[in-house]
Order: sequence, then structure tokens, then C-alpha cells
Amino acid sequence: MPPVITPATLADLPAILELLDGSKLPRAGLDAHVATTLVAKNGKQLVGTAALELYRECALLRSVAVAPELRGQGLGQELTRHALALAHRHKIKSVYLLTETAGGFFPRFGFRTIPRDAVDPAVQRSVEFTSACPASALVMRLELRRQPSAVS
Ligand SMILES: CC(C)(COP(=O)(O)OP(=O)(O)OC[C@H]1O[C@@H](n2cnc3c(N)ncnc32)[C@H](O)[C@@H]1OP(=O)(O)O)[C@@H](O)C(=O)NCCC(=O)NCCS
Repeated sequence: MPPVITPATLADLPAILELLDGSKLPRAGLDAHVATTLVAKNGKQLVGTAALELYRECALLRSVAVAPELRGQGLGQELTRHALALAHRHKIKSVYLLTETAGGFFPRFGFRTIPRDAVDPAVQRSVEFTSACPASALVMRLELRRQPSAVS
């Protein structure tokens, strides 16, 4: 059975932070965004996560991580797709991310590298931008298109 992806709850936070530590990703500020964090679980075991920080019409995608033993099986892409679907549901126009290690992973979703100063000011004020991620991190952006509304 593939891992099941669901919204995170506060009870998931310790295991999420442990996975971030093990993946060498910053944990700072994530606790304020549990409501828009996703988790992947095998039974009760947390094996993946992805989080969105919402800033009006923009969002920061962060904390995309998969347990080392399950990497390379599509879960990272599945978590990213779920996070982008969540962004669509929140009517987000631009999704940003910072990465030091996975600049080659995100272009498949349409993310493109941009200069740091092209980032929306609200996102630039996030903890991840101001302190958690080094200035050398790559900045990427995905512009989301409106999905056509369903015909009933
Ligand atoms: C990045 C990460 C989430 C990918 O998850 P995953 O489940 O292994 O990825 P998937 O199996 O869905 O996708 C595999 C594809 O992504 C590519 N890929 C995986 N990690 C990558 C990385 N760090 N950089 C570039 N490409 C990467 C693989 O080469 C593979 O490419 P292919 O489809 O062309 O063969 C996972 O490696 C991880 O947790 N890394 C540590 C944390 C991290 O760096 N997160 C990203 C920054 S927020």
C-alpha cells in the first residue's frame, strides 16, 4: 500500500520536525503553519511531509521531505502535487520556494529560478526567508493559473 497523504495535525508536529532535522531542512516557523501542512503516513509512521505558508495571494512551499528509505518512489512528487492542489484551493497566484539541495527537483512542476528580490514582500518577511534559509539558497517561483470551474 502506498503511503496515505492527509492534512497534518498538531500531534504530527514532533515526527515532522524529526524528519526535517534528519533531512537537514529548517524547522523554524513551521509550527505556525500546521493547518496547511501535509503528511504522508504508512500506518502510524510518518514518512513524508510538505508545507505551505500562506501570504494572501502568495504561498511559500517548504519542508518537502521524504524518509530516506522511501525516496525515489514518487512520494516527494506526490506530496508536492498535493501541496500545489492545496495552493489552488486557497486561490494562490504565486508559489515560492527556497532550496539548497533540490533545485533540480522542482522544475518538473513548473518552478523557475528567480532573483531573491523578485519575491513578494510578504513572503520575504517569512521566518524561512529572514533567518532559516541561508542567502545562498536558490529561490524559485511557480505562477498558478486559475483552474476552470467545474461545470455542473
Ligand atoms: C527532494 C525529495 C523530497 C524528493 O523526494 P523523493 O520521494 O525521493 O522523489 P520522487 O521519488 O518523487 O522523485 C524522484 C525524482 O526526483 C529527482 N530528485 C530527487 N531528489 C532530488 C534532488 N534533491 N535534486 C534534484 N532531483 C531530485 C530524482 O532524481 C528523480 O528524478 P526522475 O523522475 O527524473 O528519475 C527527497 O529527496 C528529500 O526528502 N530530500 C531531502 C529534503 C530536501 O532536500 N527537500 C527539498 C527542499 S524543500
